[in-house]
Amino acid sequence: MALLRIQGGSVIDGQITASSAKNSVINLIAAALLADGVVTLSNVPHLRDVSTMIELLSNMGVIVVVNDRMELEIHPNTISSLKAPYELVKTMRASFNVLGPLIARYGEAEVSLPGGCAIGTRPVDQHLKGLRALGADIAMHEGYVKGSVQGRLRGARVVFDFSTVGGTEHLMMAAALAEGVTLLENCAKEPEIIDLANFLNLLGADIRGAGTSQIRIEGAERLDGGAFEAVSDRIEVGTYLIAAAATGGRLEICNAVAEHNSALLEKLREAGAEILTNEGKISLDMQGQRPRAVNIVTGPYPAFPTDLQAQMMTLNCLAEGACSIQETIFENRFMHVPELARMGAEIQLQNNNSVALVKGVGELIGAPVMATDLRASASLVIAGIAASGETTVDRVYHIDRGYQQIEERLQRLGVDIKREAG
Ligand code: EPZ
Repeated sequence: MALLRIQGGSVIDGQITASSAKNSVINLIAAALLADGVVTLSNVPHLRDVSTMIELLSNMGVIVVVNDRMELEIHPNTISSLKAPYELVKTMRASFNVLGPLIARYGEAEVSLPGGCAIGTRPVDQHLKGLRALGADIAMHEGYVKGSVQGRLRGARVVFDFSTVGGTEHLMMAAALAEGVTLLENCAKEPEIIDLANFLNLLGADIRGAGTSQIRIEGAERLDGGAFEAVSDRIEVGTYLIAAAATGGRLEICNAVAEHNSALLEKLREAGAEILTNEGKISLDMQGQRPRAVNIVTGPYPAFPTDLQAQMMTLNCLAEGACSIQETIFENRFMHVPELARMGAEIQLQNNNSVALVKGVGELIGAPVMATDLRASASLVIAGIAASGETTVDRVYHIDRGYQQIEERLQRLGVDIKREAG
């Protein structure tokens, strides 16, 4: 298995350009199934999750062409199978979101249930409740969800029990081709949801209110093809900003939307960073200072994102002072804690492992560590950069799901990091 070998002690200094958001792109690829025409997505990040989604569509017979400028050309009308197999869905839960588009467009689909996940149980009950409300007949059979509808899905009112990003996106896609009006209530408000609405509206859908708790969708009879570029990846942006702050460094990020990272920027300022934002750029300067500890409570957007919790924990391990970090979205998202502890971090888990009390230590010490999920692996890379001595991060395939060219980018920012085949 490949690993990353990091010689610690560097201070991040330089400039990078953010990629398009992984968590938007994978949904746009699912949404492309709704189109009756060719969909082109530009500036698509070279990531394992994107490749999984392409493989899933290809497996259904859909022709997907990728060119050397990382443009994806999707030909949804070439589809020949309406089945998403376990082997692919289990590797990436978001691929479950092809279910709604397939039922909406073709009247039936068979999609594997995603199963468990390292960070939590992650059920799909809200997705299924919504699809049923739109008139889909949903049945479970041998680990698969079989969905069907006579004629078209029908618009309905769906009230989510709690904020669900994937659930909101899934229902928006299905409702885009339903007959009549769908009202989604208690929706998630993440920027990727607005991005999906913009994309579907470009294809001819009528979706209003994305980014608020109520989304209204007037179903269309058909959607066209079209060309689109996804919004910038706020989690990638946040990860690099935290890495710079944790090392006392400086960083300018282009193609970044400051507003999408408001909660993080506020916390980084509190930690002592000087931050300037200007027309698609975010600059951070720590002026060589050690960060101050900051309390974090994760929550649905616009609160502090769970996807930056692990990275921020590393910063706090290095900070002056102590803090508490509360994870409210996933029940098992502290798997980086024992790995950080191997590098000398002082962290105590409390309240049924939903709260971490972190006492900043002057220095982390390089060690062999193991990545357990995508964002946990990013937190270990940051720890390795800031630590003294050598760190190896094993199971690096986790990081390749969501950070393109991570070692090349970090090398350009002054980090001594290389990838080795395991
Ligand atoms: C999205 O996951 C992201 N994935 C996750 O990013 C992110 O951590 C998460 O939103 C929260 O921001 C993509 O966008 C592809 P949810 P999603 O539905 O849609 C529970 C990363 O590192 N729930 O908002 O799966 C669920 O278990 C990843 O890039 C139900 O109980 O998140 C969780 O506790 C990981 N029933 C909470 O709701 C449901 O039907 C929020 O999940 C749906 C969700």
